[in-house]
Amino acid sequence: MNFLNPLKNRSVLLGITGGVAAYKSVELARRLYDEEASVVTIMTEASRHFITPLSLEVASRNRVYTSLWEDPLAHIRLPKEADITVIAPATANLIAKFSQGIADDLLSTCLLSCSSKKVIIAPAMNWRMYENPAVQRNLSQLTSQGVILVGPEQGSLACGEEGTGRMAGVPEIIDAIRSALTKKDLVGERIVVTAGPTREYLDPVRFISNRSSGKMGYALAAAARDRGAVVTLISGPTSLQPPAGVRYIPVETAAAMFAAVTGETARAATMLVMAAAVADFSPETRAETKLGKKDMPQLKLRMTDDIIAAVASSPGRPFIVGFAAETGRDLDRARQKMRDKQMDMIVFNDVAEPGAGFDVDTNRVVIIDRSGEQGTELMSKNSVAHAIFDRVREIKA
Ligand code: PMT
Repeated sequence: MNFLNPLKNRSVLLGITGGVAAYKSVELARRLYDEEASVVTIMTEASRHFITPLSLEVASRNRVYTSLWEDPLAHIRLPKEADITVIAPATANLIAKFSQGIADDLLSTCLLSCSSKKVIIAPAMNWRMYENPAVQRNLSQLTSQGVILVGPEQGSLACGEEGTGRMAGVPEIIDAIRSALTKKDLVGERIVVTAGPTREYLDPVRFISNRSSGKMGYALAAAARDRGAVVTLISGPTSLQPPAGVRYIPVETAAAMFAAVTGETARAATMLVMAAAVADFSPETRAETKLGKKDMPQLKLRMTDDIIAAVASSPGRPFIVGFAAETGRDLDRARQKMRDKQMDMIVFNDVAEPGAGFDVDTNRVVIIDRSGEQGTELMSKNSVAHAIFDRVREIKA
């Protein structure tokens, strides 16, 4: 089963304006090329004070345009051929021209012949400029037309000051492009996704946990959001940034995850996706103060409450996708878990396989449901997430 990367064979028109952040756009072009998108670049005159067209030509392996006059019809042809136009960095000047419809160079002229809904801008400027009412008014005008805004971020700025004005990172911009190019086939779904490990405390500083990084669950939350679902992400402790546009509920223990999931699914959720590695056992008692060496405990464990089983037996239950983390290809155990916990689908994950399972960016799974099984190849967790939702769509159709 091979999921189609939404960036593959898509054509991106990349506009670069004059700001220090322009150097990041070389990396952006390169990452888009790696994702098999075709990138055509337009550089304004000011941007060429910061980086050269040659850098972009090498990074994108494609043509770079710098003037309105080198091809008299480029301002019509380039936006027409592009699936999406991305301006990164977008200066206050470009934002003002775009919002007012001023066309005095190739990039601003191209923007007049684009559909606003196919344009992403990543502003970058000093924080005082960003907060200026004129800039804010122009940005509101553009977003009301359907232009997608990514960033700016808070942090240290090129001028040495701190504030909001840093261009969004390359991963965030790629995420916004991927999202804009993804089909919206989960509109109307309200999906609760769980991610990460839980921590079961022995005392205030020691706990039992596992190696889950949260990457699989976060990829599922982002994929569901990109496809138009309303998403709640309930996550154990991870070092990841929650995806933008997703309701985020942090939890620590299996008991807290149980309370959050049963509470959220009762609020008209249509789907539950349990990618979290929830502890099956928890210490019977938790000491109130740190145990000393002399207090070495005899570890007595008790079973945690099963979250999926509780949701499955609730009235008006949502569609339930569980995961089965196994060390070895024990598909029977996964099938049994699906039946025992009354899931609609289970995603078998051999966590002993190199490149799959815990704390890596890739995964290989077998998607098992009541009517069949489909194995994926080893691919990014983002692609695995889309493969799971593709199968859910087929079943629910
Ligand atoms: O986070 P990453 O580093 O990206 O790694 C991803 C992953 C390996 C954690 C993920 O792909 C995965 O396999 N998650 C499920 C891990 C797990 O707990 O599997 P299990 O076979 O022990 O549990 C079966 C199912 O029951 C799971 O959906 C689990 O969330 C759920 N469960 C478990 C215990 C409990 N008390 N209640 C539950 O609902």
